[in-house]
Amino acid sequence: MYTLEDLKEIVSRCNLCPLHRGRTKVVFGQGNPEADLMFIGEGPGQVEDETGLAFVGPAGQLLTKAIEGIGFTRDEVYIANIVKCRPPNNRNPLKEEMTSCIPYLRWQVKLIKPKIIVCLGAISATNIIDSNFKITQQRGTWQQKKGIWIMATYHPSAVLRDVLKKRPFWEDFKEIRKKYDELKQE
Ligand code: URA
Repeated sequence: MYTLEDLKEIVSRCNLCPLHRGRTKVVFGQGNPEADLMFIGEGPGQVEDETGLAFVGPAGQLLTKAIEGIGFTRDEVYIANIVKCRPPNNRNPLKEEMTSCIPYLRWQVKLIKPKIIVCLGAISATNIIDSNFKITQQRGTWQQKKGIWIMATYHPSAVLRDVLKKRPFWEDFKEIRKKYDELKQE
């Protein structure tokens, strides 16, 4: 039986898609390996590529604030991305890059066994929830898949660019806390 550390080791040597050529570090994801709450973003940016850590640049700082704002620390949750290597100039990951990388994420989810997954942004939501997912219309709503409660909210980078997204983003985080507390009582 592979552990999360074994998987990390495997992924650190991945060359399945062209993104491996431009990466400085693979961004596997980090946090509590037994987290009940998991966040999934899109892909590493510059700071993440340099450090090998997910969500540590400007978007990551907003995500950290939101996580702490609902009473968790980053160490209590798990944070990962759809693709684990940085796309050039932060462009969206291509279909074939996501197709290569997502099996690692699925494997990671199987090992962590979160009760709640939060998709950050449309790229994450369309890959994890539904290919037709519309972030502006469907964010903040829950659905259950294979026993895991899943919702999507705006990507923190989108919130940084558009002040009008700030309020719904915070509302969604309050919903996440509510769902977490509900599940704890079961
Ligand atoms: N944006 C993402 O989607 N993921 C990161 O890790 C950083 C920025």
